Amino acid sequence: MAAVSAAILCQLKAGDHIVAARALFGSCRWVVETLAPKYGIEFTLIDGRFLENWEKAVKPNTKVFFLESPTNPTLEVVDIEGVAKIANQIGAKVIVDNVFATPLLQKPLELGAHIVVYSATKHIDGQGRCLGGVILSDKEWINEHLHDYFRHTGPALSPFNAWTLLKGIETLPLRVRQQSENASRVADFLAEQNQVAKVIYPGRKDHPQADIIARQMKGGSTLVCFEMKGGKEAAFALQNALDVVLISNNLGDSKSLITHPATTTHKNLSDEARAELGISPGTVRFSAGIEDSEDLIEDFARALKSVQA
Ligand SMILES: Cc1ncc(COP(=O)(O)O)c(C=O)c1O
Repeated sequence: MAAVSAAILCQLKAGDHIVAARALFGSCRWVVETLAPKYGIEFTLIDGRFLENWEKAVKPNTKVFFLESPTNPTLEVVDIEGVAKIANQIGAKVIVDNVFATPLLQKPLELGAHIVVYSATKHIDGQGRCLGGVILSDKEWINEHLHDYFRHTGPALSPFNAWTLLKGIETLPLRVRQQSENASRVADFLAEQNQVAKVIYPGRKDHPQADIIARQMKGGSTLVCFEMKGGKEAAFALQNALDVVLISNNLGDSKSLITHPATTTHKNLSDEARAELGISPGTVRFSAGIEDSEDLIEDFARALKSVQA
């Protein structure tokens, strides 16, 4: 979150305006909605799936567009190239939180984004060892905006954590490949189950934005979002019955992890805001690890037996 907040705040001043997609990780939304306005920075939250919403939200003082794609947890996508074109017309900068896509499956700078941020705590570390973040941009932006902000406010990694994250990068492609394959197999399995109302996975043809995904992503992500028919009770029963898959709010780990967004990552949102994002009491987020996919499917098959259809 230090990387996300630095990337946003280092380039803004009182009187500036941010347009952000409303589908953001809870803390990212807090930075935009609660922290930035304390310093006189205005914001507009939009449904980022539709390019016309970005255009309509622009004001004379708009300086930054901020988005996640795919989003946490409902895996909506934003047309990054389209948003970058709108931003370029008004001289605003596009910041993409690329954590759900990983650097392997989506390259926002090549799509026209100006700044990319990662929680390195996720896939880059990949083994739940340390917190970290990354900000990518061109040298000019880094020198003009980030350099002094960073030096004087101190969101620095310890050398040991930096070393650990660099070691993580060595195996990142292998892990993301296996995790994406596992996510894809689990998504297809879940889509066939009676207890499951809906599966959202960017690698499936039935994803509502499959055309944008085909244009801007090289794979389907390592995460799957699905909705249990029996709401929160069924979601909890499933999570508790899983053995191989562990309950945790982390994601991108070598171990498969599962979480219930409405009571964890997005619990601070109002019921209305959660509903707007498609997060229901039955919504579950699965982060695929590097286990054998057969073990994961067996685990889900067994755990689902303890959940009423
Ligand atoms: C999309 C997204 N951005 C940023 C973060 C923040 O990451 P960290 O926990 O490393 O501060 C998270 C954490 O879940 C996230 O999902």
